[in-house]
Amino acid sequence: MLGNFTYCNPTKLYFGKAALDGLKQELPKYGKNVLLVYGGGSIKKNGIYDKVIKILKECNKSVYEDAGVMPNPTVEKLNEGVERARKAKADLILAVGGGSVCDYAKAVSISVNCKDKDVWDKYFIRFEEPDCKIVPVGCVLTMVGTGSEMNGGSVITNREQKLKIGHVFGENVYPKFSILNPEYTYTLPKYQMVSGIYDIMSHILEQYFSGTDDNTSDYIMEGLLRSLIHSANIAVENPADYEARSNIMWTATWALNTLVAKGKTTDWMVHMLGQSVGAFTDATHGMTLAAVSMPYYKFILPYGAAKFARYAVNVWNVNPDGKTETQIAHEGLSAMKAWMKQIGLVMNITELGATKDMLDGMVKSTLVMDGGYKILNKDDIRAVLRASF
Ligand code: NZQ
Ligand code: ZN
Repeated sequence: MLGNFTYCNPTKLYFGKAALDGLKQELPKYGKNVLLVYGGGSIKKNGIYDKVIKILKECNKSVYEDAGVMPNPTVEKLNEGVERARKAKADLILAVGGGSVCDYAKAVSISVNCKDKDVWDKYFIRFEEPDCKIVPVGCVLTMVGTGSEMNGGSVITNREQKLKIGHVFGENVYPKFSILNPEYTYTLPKYQMVSGIYDIMSHILEQYFSGTDDNTSDYIMEGLLRSLIHSANIAVENPADYEARSNIMWTATWALNTLVAKGKTTDWMVHMLGQSVGAFTDATHGMTLAAVSMPYYKFILPYGAAKFARYAVNVWNVNPDGKTETQIAHEGLSAMKAWMKQIGLVMNITELGATKDMLDGMVKSTLVMDGGYKILNKDDIRAVLRASF
């Protein structure tokens, strides 16, 4: 049964081939100084940078740049960005890039006017909410997967402490607007595209595999999963298929803009395991999830077999006739595993650079969530990670 909840999503979206026109409508709402935040240069190669700069100039903005946001953005980069935003007296932070750039922009936005010196400690260790004026953030999305374009999530990595931690902030931290043009994702390398596809799948599954109640969200998620699998199969063959890429982009947004989590319990252990692997290897986010998923799902299947069987039938079209619930559930996971290999996902953490001497540290830095079918203890985490090598 659905629990009590409130729902509000304040992010305005502009979607489609003409989405960037929305920037012209949004920019006049903010002051003159814009901090343009982007990554390692893909937007310069594919021309998105020039298009954005042209509109910023047309709208008479003073543009300050903060480039070089790395995948899995670090605390050091965050501190640098805060200084840049302060110097620029930024009225708007415009993130042009993937989840890393959007997450980073949010972290800067809540830190510019923060009185605490150590924002890592405040937001990512003590999990406090911002109590200062937040600089508004807008996004032009170029990589699909995280859902950062329409949520309050921000994931920052502390390489020294070997911690990668996400804080899901409230509505005041969501981007004010996001520009979603599926064509902007065409230049993504295939590795990044399929990594993003699995990130989406994992977001849905980690909200799906929790609870035994009957709720609308699970039906919505089954639909999203079917659409994602269908479109992914097309996009892997033909990355420039607009229909497939646009469906994947829209599914990513709905997978993690809080809607499907409302009124139900959620798990999130695959992300906790994946983030721990990421903290030690700096590997691509979606691939870390893919590499730990099968061992984790096999581990918890006995505790949630009914839901795994439902997943097998409703998402993977497993024929349940004459089979036990456990058999059906396992067949579903086998179908998922075959599909994961087929689209080119990394299926073990060794390939991502993890070595056995990292095991103790990864076990230690895996946060434990309590919404899944089994609450993992440290031995369970060790077993799942060991099976992921
Ligand atoms: O830096 P550039 O040169 O732009 O290259 C990027 C980067 O190397 C490249 N790229 C992006 N758009 C491109 C492109 N290359 C060619 N053409 C384009 N159009 O792709 C690489 C990866 O980008 P990144 O932003 O790191 O990927 P992603 O969107 O997967 O973001 C990952 C980060 O988001 C966090 C992850 O933990 C990770 O730190 N997450 C954020 C969440 C949230 N806000 O709710 C939830 C997620 O679960 C996730 O944890
Ligand atoms: Zn994710």
